[in-house]
Amino acid sequence: MTEDEQKQMAAAAAVEHIKDGMVVGLGTGSTAAKMVDLVGARVKDGLDIIAVPTSEATAEQARGLGIKVVGLDEVSVIDLTIDGTDEVDPQMRLIKGGGGAHLREKIVASLSDTMIVIAEAKKMVNKLGAFKLPVEVIPFAAGALLPKLEALGADVSIRQKDGTDFKTDENNLIIDCAFGEIDDPEEIALTLSLMPGVVEHGLFIDMADLVLIGTENGVKSFQKD
Ligand code: 5RP
Repeated sequence: MTEDEQKQMAAAAAVEHIKDGMVVGLGTGSTAAKMVDLVGARVKDGLDIIAVPTSEATAEQARGLGIKVVGLDEVSVIDLTIDGTDEVDPQMRLIKGGGGAHLREKIVASLSDTMIVIAEAKKMVNKLGAFKLPVEVIPFAAGALLPKLEALGADVSIRQKDGTDFKTDENNLIIDCAFGEIDDPEEIALTLSLMPGVVEHGLFIDMADLVLIGTENGVKSFQKD
């Protein structure tokens, strides 16, 4: 089974949790895009929902599929958010932001009653950190933050795209931090959150309620206790 098929299985399992009348947060990335396609198909069949996208790319995709898209300020509650991940550990802690959308993703997830994470099997890791931790920073602070992030033990680089600095939807930069295995994700998360100039980091701790992983043997599900 291909990774794409595993992503598709996880996305399909997640979309079953969406019910009429819900406000649904739509994640970003290739797995989330499969989920958005499936939501679009259900909307065409009469599903009545309102969606809050986590990026301009997802908003455009959702609108194109006829999904009613609103901004965060137009809803009082988000019932359910479904999003992908770059890594997930046994405590359901995540590294996100490979697509550069973790700022809006974290805001939407934090305002959601339930967050469902969908991924292919290779995203499950024993320890977070093989994937470079994305840290969104304001451009003014980027140069000053590089040595500070390096001092935390990471190899750092400003994310590039098409030969130039990658800009997020909020016009910020991303510093990708290669920590290797992270022994204490909570400590790193707190340290990064306290750094002036850091807008948001890609560690999602205590946010996922349900993790659905597409595997060779079907969808594996992990739930918060
Ligand atoms: C975007 C994200 C994505 O959810 C994450 O990068 C996973 O992407 P993909 O489903 O393409 O592997 O956090 O900011």
